[in-house]
Amino acid sequence: MKIIKCHTTSSTNDDLREYALENHSEETVALLAFCQKNGKGQRGRFWHAEEDKSLTFSMLFKGVEIPFAQIFQIHVCVSIALLDFLTEITRQEINFHVKWPNDIMAENKKCAGILIETISSERTVNEMIIGIGVNLNNTDFPNQLVHAVSLKQISGEHYSIENSFKTLIERIEKKMRTIPMLDDWNGIFEEYQQRLFKRNQRIQVTYKNKQLEVEVQGVDESGRLVVREEELGIIHASYEELKWNYNLLR
Ligand code: BTN
Repeated sequence: MKIIKCHTTSSTNDDLREYALENHSEETVALLAFCQKNGKGQRGRFWHAEEDKSLTFSMLFKGVEIPFAQIFQIHVCVSIALLDFLTEITRQEINFHVKWPNDIMAENKKCAGILIETISSERTVNEMIIGIGVNLNNTDFPNQLVHAVSLKQISGEHYSIENSFKTLIERIEKKMRTIPMLDDWNGIFEEYQQRLFKRNQRIQVTYKNKQLEVEVQGVDESGRLVVREEELGIIHASYEELKWNYNLLR
């Protein structure tokens, strides 16, 4: 794996997309930025990061040839790798959950996010960029990020950016190597379900432009969130259809 560290950049995901177009080697690349100025989040949002406090990196996997239907498995594997890593470095003092599809929650607030982007041909994904942001040592956040938290804010400890980067990229690379076989998919999928944020609890969502209160049941094999609503019954909702109402999270 080729490792690149840079001081300042706009977005490590964008950098690796450019890199993929210019370089034809199939080697996996991991890019760490100590200061990411214009990070991208899910749904086109901005990802807040602070120099030497936030962990921001991306990994480029080339020649992966993964069918579209398998992308959800990547989301699950990366989420589990990140959850395991966070549980380990905080010495199991913090409860981490994955808020579907792949926000990482520490107790009731978001401490990390994953942005997976793909470069695809007709039927398969050929290149994949996995971008990860973790709030490691931040001591405060802008007012509008009321649901953000750092590991330091919870545990009081300081975490090494470089060591965290090294450990995480090794874990993710190892997991990615097993993806085409995924012998233990059922076990990994079950673990993801077990670690699902608000499972068996009621949450407020916007589903197809309607405000609903639903109970989180789990996730189905194609990656849709399964919820139960009093009148509509069981709903399998895609990422485009369902949005959590963050401001109503308790
Ligand atoms: C989310 O919205 O939860 C996803 C956040 C992903 C942020 C990371 S930081 C490193 C990489 N580069 C980016 O521009 N975004 C991702």
